[in-house]
Amino acid sequence: MIYFDNAATSLLKPYSVKRAVIDALDNYTANPGRSGHFRSMMVAEKIFDTREMLKHFFNANDYEVIFTKNCTEALNLAILGTLKEKDHIIVSCYEHNSVLRTLEHLKKDGIEVTMIYSDLNDFSNHLEENIKVNTKMVICTMVSNVTGESSDVESIGNFCQKHKLIYLADGAQASGHIKIDLTNSNIDFFCFAGHKGLMSITGVGGLVVKKGIKLSPIMFGGTGTESENLNQPDAIPEGFEAGTLASIPIISLKAGVEFLEKNFSKIIEKEEKLTNYLYNSLKNLKFLTIYSKDDSKNVISFNMKNLDSSYLADLLDEKFQICVRAGLHCAPLIHKKLDTINTGTVRVSLDYNNRFEEIDRLVYALKSIYSSLS
Ligand code: ALA
Repeated sequence: MIYFDNAATSLLKPYSVKRAVIDALDNYTANPGRSGHFRSMMVAEKIFDTREMLKHFFNANDYEVIFTKNCTEALNLAILGTLKEKDHIIVSCYEHNSVLRTLEHLKKDGIEVTMIYSDLNDFSNHLEENIKVNTKMVICTMVSNVTGESSDVESIGNFCQKHKLIYLADGAQASGHIKIDLTNSNIDFFCFAGHKGLMSITGVGGLVVKKGIKLSPIMFGGTGTESENLNQPDAIPEGFEAGTLASIPIISLKAGVEFLEKNFSKIIEKEEKLTNYLYNSLKNLKFLTIYSKDDSKNVISFNMKNLDSSYLADLLDEKFQICVRAGLHCAPLIHKKLDTINTGTVRVSLDYNNRFEEIDRLVYALKSIYSSLS
């Protein structure tokens, strides 16, 4: 079996993450932040440590970490918890439906959206011409989950800082694959998924918020604090984490980030080499249309002739045990730009566990499928 669907979720977790999950099931199953007994405090301490570790990993000392169940929930919280009627938002066409559908929902309440259809790395150059007096937020993914293109985080951050706009960066695909520095990039809201590049089990994501940014809760309930108050507390993070936290996924995330902290430069180097090799190998297959660029971050999308992407993905799976993702990848607007809205694309997404021989095997499989068609 060859696994090329790491953008959906990473398949192979580090041994230390697996150990952390077993240890958590043995010793850290009490409810953190509710009761005051020592078992509850032990879990609360692990969760605190995870927040601190994430702040260190993303250079976010002056930020707070709010845990959510995934990146989608974090994006919903940042958008719904900030925007009000008549606000204007500038957004890239590369965004995931977690952003697009949330904005579409808000349009009914009088939110105005400007969609930029430029290449992702050129997005920052289109901000000046689209800013309005009521512009409040700029939303841009760091790395596209469809093409692996990346945005110019520093330029977007500088623009937002200069014009006092909120910069929301979607880090779902970037986290654990590229170096991220929230402080020096002037990012206000950063959303991440634990289970992709950060190597946790599923069930945890987060919103990293710059201190001082005003946020309203979108979910209400118990926080373990101010229980006499019928209004939702607005302290970050507690007020924004109503209900029992996913302690075991969070503890696994701590182990994942620890692993990355120790091995990050080697991981980045290997993933760059693998992506280059993949890009160049696929580029040589003249019967493919490649939608990614040569500086892609871990993700390459392509199609074979006029084949529907799902059909090709099914053949790779059934005949060669190669797991890829096909379709629109929950990011429909980029497909309008690529002219793939009807076919979707076949997406190969790598992580450091992949091997060069697996890419050779993919090339062999694609050649075999193509020759069987003609
Ligand atoms: N958003 C994830 C992906 O791109 C699930 O596959």
